[in-house]
Amino acid sequence: MRFATFALLAGVVTVVNAHFQVSYPPPRGPFDEDNEVNFCDNYVNAVSNRSEFPLSGGFVTLNSEHTSWSLAILLSTVQNPISFNNFTTSSGQQQFARNFASGSGEGGFCIPLDLNNTGISGVQDNANVTIQFLFNGGDGSLYQCADLTLSNNFTVPSSVSCSNGTSTGNSSTSTSGSQSTSRAPSASSTSSSGNSASKVATPGVFGLIAAVIVAL
Ligand SMILES: *[C@@H]1O[C@H](CO)[C@@H](O)[C@H](O)[C@H]1NC(C)=O
Ligand SMILES: *[C@@H]1O[C@H](CO)[C@@H](O)[C@H](O)[C@H]1NC(C)=O
Ligand SMILES: *[C@@H]1O[C@H](CO)[C@@H](O)[C@H](O)[C@H]1NC(C)=O
Ligand SMILES: *[C@@H]1O[C@H](CO)[C@@H](O)[C@H](O)[C@H]1NC(C)=O
Ligand SMILES: *[C@@H]1O[C@H](CO)[C@@H](O)[C@H](O)[C@H]1NC(C)=O
Ligand SMILES: *[C@@H]1O[C@H](CO)[C@@H](O)[C@H](O)[C@H]1NC(C)=O
Ligand SMILES: *[C@@H]1O[C@H](CO)[C@@H](O)[C@H](O)[C@H]1NC(C)=O
Repeated sequence: MRFATFALLAGVVTVVNAHFQVSYPPPRGPFDEDNEVNFCDNYVNAVSNRSEFPLSGGFVTLNSEHTSWSLAILLSTVQNPISFNNFTTSSGQQQFARNFASGSGEGGFCIPLDLNNTGISGVQDNANVTIQFLFNGGDGSLYQCADLTLSNNFTVPSSVSCSNGTSTGNSSTSTSGSQSTSRAPSASSTSSSGNSASKVATPGVFGLIAAVIVAL
């Protein structure tokens, strides 16, 4: 715990301007660092050339510039979601395809995303949906979006590599995203442990940050 506090402090103090970049599926537009604090990195409208994405057994990849972070993924079934409002349930809550879960390390990450398991109404073969990444490395929320068409029979191309690396490790042990790799981190086990971890860890982490900021 003490170690985690120091690691976190170092992260907060030295990388307040760090960001994250979604690499797969492709975001709405090229990464725009200054606008990442805004809805969908300030790409307000859905693209017309959507990416196909697997209804089941998909994954996303991103680069983290923070050593300690949390990530959630919101989902909208609106054809052209233009606001955070469009990523909510009928009762006005944020609609999560993946709840907040913590991660550690800079570099490339590959995170399983089985949309069919979310039970969200309208998530089905041939549906147009948009996912919005909510990333927080301790210095505020950052957002990127990807517009998708879901498919029962689409698998992520093997050219998309699925592996986790760190800033120090050369993530060249990439297993080059074969389908067996992408399906290996079984969504249920990974995300359930991730979710329970985040429920315990996230308030603690933000509590610590608040305490640190107050102390400073
Ligand atoms: C999905 O979006 C594409 C591109 O915007 C559009 O051409 C298509 O009609 C949409 N499909 C459905 C089912 O709404
Ligand atoms: C959509 O078009 C843009 C602009 O031409 C391009 O950069 C992007 O790669 C395309 N996306 C897909 C999923 O084909
Ligand atoms: C999407 O968001 C806009 C702006 O908040 C709102 O006017 C519109 O009703 C929303 N669309 C749907 C389908 O919820
Ligand atoms: C990469 O790390 C994330 C977050 O720690 C985890 O959810 C995911 O399952 C890992 N992916 C692989 C391919 O091990
Ligand atoms: C999606 O989930 C439903 C049950 O919730 C299941 O019947 C269906 O086979 C799943 N589809 C895919 C592509 O896995
Ligand atoms: C995949 O599914 C889509 C949508 O249901 C369909 O149009 C297409 O023909 C299917 N492709 C293959 C190779 O089965
Ligand atoms: C990463 O690569 C560099 C140069 O290729 C090498 O010197 C270093 O030992 C590698 N680090 C690890 C953790 O493999």
